[in-house]
Amino acid sequence: MRNIREDNLSDIVLERLNCDSERDREILTKLIKHIHAFVKDLEPTEDEWFKAIDFLTRTGQTCNDKRQEFILLSDVLGVSMLVDFINHRTQNNLTETTVTGPFHTAALNFEMGDNIARGKEEKRGKPTVVRGRIFGENDQLISNAVIDVWQSDDIGFYDIQDGDQPEMNLRGKFKTDKTGEYWFRTIKPAPYPVPTDGPVGELLKASGRQPMRPAHIHFWIKAEGYHQLITHLFVKGDEHLDSDAVFGVKESLILDFKLNHSSEDANQWRVKSPFYEVVYDFKLAKNKT
Ligand code: BEZ
Ligand code: FE
Repeated sequence: MRNIREDNLSDIVLERLNCDSERDREILTKLIKHIHAFVKDLEPTEDEWFKAIDFLTRTGQTCNDKRQEFILLSDVLGVSMLVDFINHRTQNNLTETTVTGPFHTAALNFEMGDNIARGKEEKRGKPTVVRGRIFGENDQLISNAVIDVWQSDDIGFYDIQDGDQPEMNLRGKFKTDKTGEYWFRTIKPAPYPVPTDGPVGELLKASGRQPMRPAHIHFWIKAEGYHQLITHLFVKGDEHLDSDAVFGVKESLILDFKLNHSSEDANQWRVKSPFYEVVYDFKLAKNKT
């Protein structure tokens, strides 16, 4: 085929597809159609196109085992939340989901009640007890659910961003027993900016957008027979709840971190008084397959 022109190029590219998998064919057809439509609509200069390629190249080069710039790009463009909404349309009364983000890494196993704040935060942060139960969609309590939690410190940094924090600080895995209950000690998380020192920071700046996320704790819950649940619990009253840089806030996930002055309660939960207390029951969807 030599008579390729501007007006038939898109169709010719589509005709070349010869996929074994029907889903691959669908994905590549839509990708080609949408990207050709984007370029036809935009009519970029060659300089602009090279800049776009340079941006994506640098986004990839910024990724390593502690930094995931492509997830961040998907997050700030709202694509991660779009995928989240599409995949959780029939939630009913289940716990709502939100973005995973780029800061999840392997964590140590803990006993219920352990403190995931290690090192300086344990002394400096505001003591917080997080507790509740893990339910299935029919209100049955779930035993052997693995609850993987991670969060920023009291000034808004994750361990992997901050050489001063002990490794695996403020992250941990807990397993429920037959009561389905969970509880752990931590510190109150702080709001923080998504990383802005890479290509995604340039994109935010060019967009005139702020990089802050409201304070939250991440949860990734897995239990046999249930869909995994990836979500956060947000701190009520945070000034960034309406302007989250990654569009991840859902009303049902905003919780009161209540200040508790009772020294009896502090003794019970093995924390210093006063402490913050947040209570939340998670509800997971049953696996239908
Ligand atoms: C996070 O909450 O860890 C996060 C999510 C999306 C982008 C950056 C950070
Ligand atoms: Fe986070």
